[in-house]
Amino acid sequence: MTEVGEIEPWAQSGHSTRKLIETVLGVWPEHAKFLRASFNQRSADLLLTTETIVELLFKVAADQGRTIQSYADDYRYLCEQIVFPEEMFFRREGRYRLSTFADAAAQVYDNAPLMTRYMDGLFVSDALWFNHASAMNDFASHYLPTTKRGGRHLEIGPGHGMLLHLAAKHGAFGKLSAWDISETSIRHTRHVLDLLGQSDEVDLRMQDLYDSAARADFRGNFDTIVFSEVLEHLEEPLAAVEIIRDLLAPGGTVWINVPANGPAPDHLFLLHTPDEARRLVEHSGLTVTRTAGYPVAGATLERALRQELPISCVLVGVKDA
Ligand SMILES: C[S@@+](CC[C@H](N)C(=O)[O-])C[C@H]1O[C@@H](n2cnc3c(N)ncnc32)[C@H](O)[C@@H]1O
Repeated sequence: MTEVGEIEPWAQSGHSTRKLIETVLGVWPEHAKFLRASFNQRSADLLLTTETIVELLFKVAADQGRTIQSYADDYRYLCEQIVFPEEMFFRREGRYRLSTFADAAAQVYDNAPLMTRYMDGLFVSDALWFNHASAMNDFASHYLPTTKRGGRHLEIGPGHGMLLHLAAKHGAFGKLSAWDISETSIRHTRHVLDLLGQSDEVDLRMQDLYDSAARADFRGNFDTIVFSEVLEHLEEPLAAVEIIRDLLAPGGTVWINVPANGPAPDHLFLLHTPDEARRLVEHSGLTVTRTAGYPVAGATLERALRQELPISCVLVGVKDA
């Protein structure tokens, strides 16, 4: 418990972030300890990115006539009902529960009501979980400013569309594209882009990354690719990174965000460390120019590695010019 008069670590956050936290604590008071750990160590640019994410979330909610409390409910559901049982399994067995895409599709992707709560909860976690928000901030504050002006940009697996929104808001790309295999994700992404009035400018399509025709048609086509929280969902992760290598133009870069030790019902591919992620990307023939590891709230990177706690691993890979 925080003593009366003691300042909460989110006091320096933006107005919308504080409102979201207040709403989450309204439906889930016991979550305060986690949130304190998560906001204890946020830099000014991380707080700014957090606020951008929450403002977008509020816009999406308002546009859909939904309350913030319904997002807070979905967030609690994500933590307690979707992720927690998988964490218990991971602690016990040292592996993720599922290993095939078919099982993940049957249990998660094809369950539309579950998918909606899952995506909504994830959207909130992108602001509230230190590891998730730090990865988003890595993209907004460190990667986007390095991208080629007027470049052709692709996101594979945009999900709720937040990173594509940030890329569109950045405003310096010549062309934006996004591929996803889920109709729900395409709908969410289109909605987020609509709010910016930018959905007409984005080539958004139902497209499986593994489709060989697309690999041939778009070979060497993109200057930048974003691949965030997708690798862990795949049965053939190395093949996916090899396809990305082929889709990149010479000198093009990919920004990858993948969890280590991050159990979820649709996660198939388990990495233990950012180094393992680096080796995978290097194996594809890309050169890794930067890596970062963002540990779960309240842990140092050293402790997260030692105790196999979740770490968001960010990697930037470049294709030889
Ligand atoms: C967890 S979401 C990631 C959302 C977002 N990129 C983020 O960082 O939070 C994973 C997304 O990858 C998509 N996906 C999974 N397999 C795919 C494939 N083979 N080709 C294209 N998209 C895929 C899913 O439909 C889903 O929208």
